[in-house]
Amino acid sequence: MLVAPSILSADFGNLANEIKAICDGGCDLIHVDVMDGHFVPNMTIGPVVVNPVAKVATKPLDIHLMVEDNTFFVELFAPCKPEYISFHIESEKHPHRLIQKIRDYGIKPAIVLNPHSTPESIEYLLEDLDMVLLMSVNPGFGGQKFIPSVIEKAKKLKEIINKRNPNCLIEVDGGVNDKNIYDLKEAGVDVVVAGSYVFGNDDYSKAIKSLQV
Ligand code: DX5
Ligand code: ZN
Repeated sequence: MLVAPSILSADFGNLANEIKAICDGGCDLIHVDVMDGHFVPNMTIGPVVVNPVAKVATKPLDIHLMVEDNTFFVELFAPCKPEYISFHIESEKHPHRLIQKIRDYGIKPAIVLNPHSTPESIEYLLEDLDMVLLMSVNPGFGGQKFIPSVIEKAKKLKEIINKRNPNCLIEVDGGVNDKNIYDLKEAGVDVVVAGSYVFGNDDYSKAIKSLQV
């Protein structure tokens, strides 16, 4: 299991050291939550913060857009050279076109499904994707409770992925901890995002390792 700590739960007054600590602690990716105050009822950070984060980071960035104007934000964050940019299917009229745009920047495209969205809704996009991110909370805030139906959804998605594009990864985001990690593993999940669980632990390295099952 790959682990992507979400810096939403980091101490932003001490961000460079927080990034260094999770990278030294053995994380696989750094999850960056971008919120516009429209698609979700919260706002976070732009390139003014993410560029210096990218400079300090020794692990690749995984940018999760929670925004209405996806194209604008893809153009804004492409220069930060993330490994992945993911956007929500619920906020995009032309997902196929946007996937191509992300790939043209040399970035791996991923699509995010909110808790109510079905894996079948993206079946015909899978061959163009590197990853699908399943939300296991309602997007907008860290520290929420894990929605267990994501386990069944991940299993269904895995079946469709095996048929359409076995190289596509499954990522789960929200309320992940050292208890639900085993069900996620069994369901075929490849990457987990963990915010409050990692940054709420005194020992980041220990917390990250407890998820790398
Ligand atoms: C929620 C974000 C998550 C969040 C996860 O909108 O997409 O990445 O930071 O935080 P935890 O792990 O605390 O649920
Ligand atoms: Zn996220």
